[in-house]
Amino acid sequence: MQSPEPLLEILSDRNYDELSEQSWTLCDNVFAPDFYELMLSECKRREEIDQEFRQSQIGKGQKQQSSAEIRNDLISWVEFKQNSAFTEVLKSKLDQIQQDLNQGLYLGIDHYECHFAKYPAGSFYKTHIDQAKTMTHLDGERVISFVLYLNKNWVVTDGGQLQIEMPHKSPTLIDPQFGRLILFRSDTVPHAVLESKNLRRSLTGWMRKTRVS
Ligand code: OGA
Ligand code: MN
Repeated sequence: MQSPEPLLEILSDRNYDELSEQSWTLCDNVFAPDFYELMLSECKRREEIDQEFRQSQIGKGQKQQSSAEIRNDLISWVEFKQNSAFTEVLKSKLDQIQQDLNQGLYLGIDHYECHFAKYPAGSFYKTHIDQAKTMTHLDGERVISFVLYLNKNWVVTDGGQLQIEMPHKSPTLIDPQFGRLILFRSDTVPHAVLESKNLRRSLTGWMRKTRVS
């Protein structure tokens, strides 16, 4: 029996070096244009469905009450069990990124999760870390966060930049423009989404590893 065709690598040595040295890396237009179009049309399709996008939450129990002061985006999770052209295409790309990260940086990632996020004008997400030391995730800790931006013709005055706030460095601002993919370490990169002045769309997710203890 023939072994399956190896998938084409998405990440490059530059990405591995940047992830090791500065804990984040960025790729513009690494996929064919129709991939981004498919992601955007799936996001828009979900927007048409009543109650599909839900208020995002942070923490558990009581803490949730104050979450709107920290973030006020809306999210819609991707269910990979529900097969569709969209999930198949997305899965093939994320499987490849998982494989690249494991081969390039030995991260031991064995699953991932992602959701669409919508920041209506006026929305933001204050400074946070995706995998704080104090967080316990029974189903595996977040190792690498990724965000694929889906905003055409985004201009600086639209706001909504991702602000990376590494200690002892001046903040880096990243415009959420169409075709841009950012990856960063979930446990060491404080970041915020500055107030968006326009509807801002993305697909956001986490590469995770299973807890052994
Ligand atoms: C998040 C997040 C960043 C972005 O959802 O945890 O930090 O640029 N998103 O959307
Ligand atoms: Mn985050």
